Amino acid sequence: MTTHEPPRDDARQATGPGAPGTTPDISGPSTPQVSSTSHTTRVDLTGRTALVTGAAGGIGRACATRLADAGATVRLVDIDGAALAELAELGVGEPVELDLTDLDAAEEAARGSDIVVNNAGVQTVAAVQDFPPERFSLILRLMVESPFRVVRGALPHMYERGWGRIVNISSVHGLRASAYKSAYVAGKHGLEGFSKVVALEGAPHGVTSNCVNPGYVRTALVERQIAEQAEAHGLPEDRVVSEVLLARTPVKRLIEPSEVAEMVAYLCSDDASFVNGASLPIDGAWSSS
Ligand SMILES: NC(=O)c1ccc[n+]([C@@H]2O[C@H](COP(=O)([O-])OP(=O)(O)OC[C@H]3O[C@@H](n4cnc5c(N)ncnc54)[C@H](O)[C@@H]3O)[C@@H](O)[C@H]2O)c1
Repeated sequence: MTTHEPPRDDARQATGPGAPGTTPDISGPSTPQVSSTSHTTRVDLTGRTALVTGAAGGIGRACATRLADAGATVRLVDIDGAALAELAELGVGEPVELDLTDLDAAEEAARGSDIVVNNAGVQTVAAVQDFPPERFSLILRLMVESPFRVVRGALPHMYERGWGRIVNISSVHGLRASAYKSAYVAGKHGLEGFSKVVALEGAPHGVTSNCVNPGYVRTALVERQIAEQAEAHGLPEDRVVSEVLLARTPVKRLIEPSEVAEMVAYLCSDDASFVNGASLPIDGAWSSS
């Protein structure tokens, strides 16, 4: 088994407290820490082809790396060609530079995939009355219509083989709302509904479809929100994390992308064949509150 990422400890140093432009680490001594050992779930995906959207960064990159480590041949789909090339250089997979809002191209890119991880997403924070309509449309196109087209492209091959795994990276915001995130919350709720329909249709063909629902994950998407909120509220970034982002989260730390990827790997395994149509929170009990 090959590991395509640098050891976790190195990665943590590079993004640790004090590093410019990174999320402050608010972990206190009593905060549960992420294990620095490698994968907890033994998953063998040899012979499977996995397509991961938004693979160039954050959660998508962690998922692509994890599935490659499990033996899958990975198609790395992203709009960011430079970051994709870097990942391909590490041997993680084959880069497919694509704007997923080009729906025909998204569907075409998915043909022949055994595994689909619908991950690409963006965020815009604004009150409904100020929300730019064209941005609302784009978010739904990227986060609902594009997953539909990717799955539409992949299902015939999955049905032919009698096996398939679709994992939709939803969010706590697929289960709960937050103010000022109308497009994102609408998109994630739409993705949840779509995932359940695919679960029903795919079941007789050995295809599962599930959602994973993270709280706040340590990625560029969240780092941008922290910086914006710090400016908007006139607060230091560590207080934005603890008082704004994690206000409703009992486990007071950000989630690491590798923790999400581990759950995705399990959902892609043969052992998970009965997990279908589910929405699995990985949110430090936020959605229990
Ligand atoms: N970070 C979090 O806290 C968090 C929490 C819950 C759910 N999520 C979800 O996880 C997913 C990934 O988020 P992330 O935090 O890793 O974000 P990120 O910004 O780190 O990565 C998103 C990736 O998607 C790509 N992308 C964006 N628009 C694209 C387009 N039009 N075509 C192709 N690629 C495009 C970007 O280039 C980037 O590589 C999103 O769906 C997000 O909603 C994130």
